[in-house]
Amino acid sequence: MSLKDKIDIKNLPQHIAIIMDGNGRWAKMRGKHRVFGHEQGVISVRDTAEAAAEIGVKFLTLYAFSTENWKRPATEVEALMKLLVQTIHQETKTLTDNDIRLKAIGDLDSLDKNCRKELIEAMNTTASNKRMDLVLALSYSGRWELTETFKALANKVRSGILNPDDITQEVISNNLNTAGMPEPELLIRTSGECRISNFLIWQSAYTELYFTSKLWPDFRKEDLYEAIIDYQQRER
Ligand code: FPP
Repeated sequence: MSLKDKIDIKNLPQHIAIIMDGNGRWAKMRGKHRVFGHEQGVISVRDTAEAAAEIGVKFLTLYAFSTENWKRPATEVEALMKLLVQTIHQETKTLTDNDIRLKAIGDLDSLDKNCRKELIEAMNTTASNKRMDLVLALSYSGRWELTETFKALANKVRSGILNPDDITQEVISNNLNTAGMPEPELLIRTSGECRISNFLIWQSAYTELYFTSKLWPDFRKEDLYEAIIDYQQRER
């Protein structure tokens, strides 16, 4: 019986979030530049997205660039942005062929013009696709998102549209970047680090966490299946 066959399709997580970690270490172990690790990481993104869509996951959210990542050397930031633009450009047709809708969360205004333009085009092109939402977290952090949400709610209060007594957890959820998406039932982090690192902090209050020592460029379909099987063995 293959790993895929062991998955209980009736008990799939609807939303899986992934902290793709270990690209730099993967490259260093091979005597290569960190950017090589990010390039190989794109192959894992493709494989994982394909696997998730095939088995029927509805939302896959990938932590592609955190607000903290801006502090990396300018050459690495530039290379990551270039890789994103290239990948989005190259993969838009595959996304459409597979009925996958591309979405993004994060401070998209802080992305360079070219990256934002490519992203918006791909999101528009895939907007009516229905099989799965592939959500890229770009220039994203949970605290940034919460801060923006609180500012937006404070502005609504100031302009009289919102009564402070009406601010509930639901109102907060509905004002996050992830409004309309279910909370992730499963959060995967690669590379052996066991932290959430400011990813989806509000949304992951009840999320099952799965940590694997695999580095992201080595992560493949089978690794996703393993994570889902592990999740399905837990009591929720
Ligand atoms: C973490 O590894 C990974 C990133 C900061 C970027 C992830 C980006 C990609 C996989 C490529 C582009 C993605 C898409 C969606 C097209 P790290 O650099 O922190 O590795 P380290 O911890 O070993 O240094």
